[in-house]
Amino acid sequence: MVVRTALVLLFASSLYEQCLALQSSPLNDEGLGLEDDGDDIDESVDEEMLKMYARYRTGVRHIGSISIVTVETRAGDPMKLPGRNAGAGADTSVKNVGVGHPWKYYRTKNGLMLKWINETFQKDPETMAIMIDGGDMVFGGCDEQFLSRKYKEILKASGGGSNMKIVMSAETACFPIDMGWRFRENATWEMRRSAVNKQVENLPDDWVLPYTPCSDKKVAPCDANNIGYRYPNWGWVMGPVKDLLPLFEFVYNKGIRGSMDQARAQWWMLYNPDRATLDYAGSLVLSTHQMAHGRPESKAPLEIKLDERNQPFILNKITKQPCCFAHGNGNGEALIGSLARRMNNLTGAV
Ligand SMILES: *[C@@H]1O[C@H](CO)[C@@H](O)[C@H](O)[C@H]1NC(C)=O
Ligand SMILES: *[C@@H]1O[C@H](CO)[C@@H](O)[C@H](O)[C@H]1NC(C)=O
Ligand SMILES: *[C@@H]1O[C@H](CO)[C@@H](O)[C@H](O)[C@H]1NC(C)=O
Repeated sequence: MVVRTALVLLFASSLYEQCLALQSSPLNDEGLGLEDDGDDIDESVDEEMLKMYARYRTGVRHIGSISIVTVETRAGDPMKLPGRNAGAGADTSVKNVGVGHPWKYYRTKNGLMLKWINETFQKDPETMAIMIDGGDMVFGGCDEQFLSRKYKEILKASGGGSNMKIVMSAETACFPIDMGWRFRENATWEMRRSAVNKQVENLPDDWVLPYTPCSDKKVAPCDANNIGYRYPNWGWVMGPVKDLLPLFEFVYNKGIRGSMDQARAQWWMLYNPDRATLDYAGSLVLSTHQMAHGRPESKAPLEIKLDERNQPFILNKITKQPCCFAHGNGNGEALIGSLARRMNNLTGAV
């Protein structure tokens, strides 16, 4: 009860701020809730938990009509968004950083996002939103037209009927590991992956191979052979809020502890293959776990370039297009941190 009130207040205050913070201090997916093995429910509120909630809020920013939503710690003065928004009227001024807070309470992210989705749903169920990890994501520069076009192409190539509205980010290595075979050894998902690779970006199914040093051998290792960019990653998900609502309700699971949010998102996909698909070709978001660490940055699949107007953007060397969102999940954090710092330097942000 008290938690609910706290969340409502927190959400209400976030509406005044209407901004998105992406911080350059990367958070590590592998830190999320791994040590969380309790089975109790978030509703028992103590002082410390209230303080914890008070540190977080949802931030909303817009690329055209698309809402970009994240949850981050509250703090500090306005700063600039790492990366940039190429859209007209783009505003890269954001508030808050929250540097130095390990993101231990991943349920907070899902709870606050669910709250935002529910509230937005009451106002306009068709609102298009992208829900992202705040701490380890860089915006590489693409506009609403590009985002919308790729989103539609991915749904179409996935054989999406009228129910299919959700695109989630993919990645090379499965976390948690024991979920991997359900996607890897299943023709439904593998055929869909091929179709998206081919139809959206004209890429072969093993496109990730030249970019997989696979230096993490323990937490989320690469597959032994047949490495593919095919596992759901919960750090980025796009769709109308009416379709995001049941997904986030399932993942949040009434705040019950004991299972990892990414695994719950993976289960939801397995139960609802007609409603969600993955960005298998990295057209919208590239998850860099296993794709950069252990090699010089010049060998990474992402590179900062200047466009014809001398504006910096992040080039995805695989698709040869702008990288809308670059995700420093897992051991990709150093690359993304470096790109964020250099983009900030180029755009004059602090
Ligand atoms: C969504 O909002 C409605 C109306 O405010 C509320 O009754 C319902 O419990 C909320 N659902 C969730 C999942 O938050
Ligand atoms: C493959 O995955 C789909 C979607 O989750 C599921 O319906 C189907 O039963 C799976 N096939 C096998 C052989 O497990
Ligand atoms: C940041 O920009 C300055 C001046 O443009 C340059 O001298 C410096 O090397 C840059 N630093 C980084 C880390 O790119």
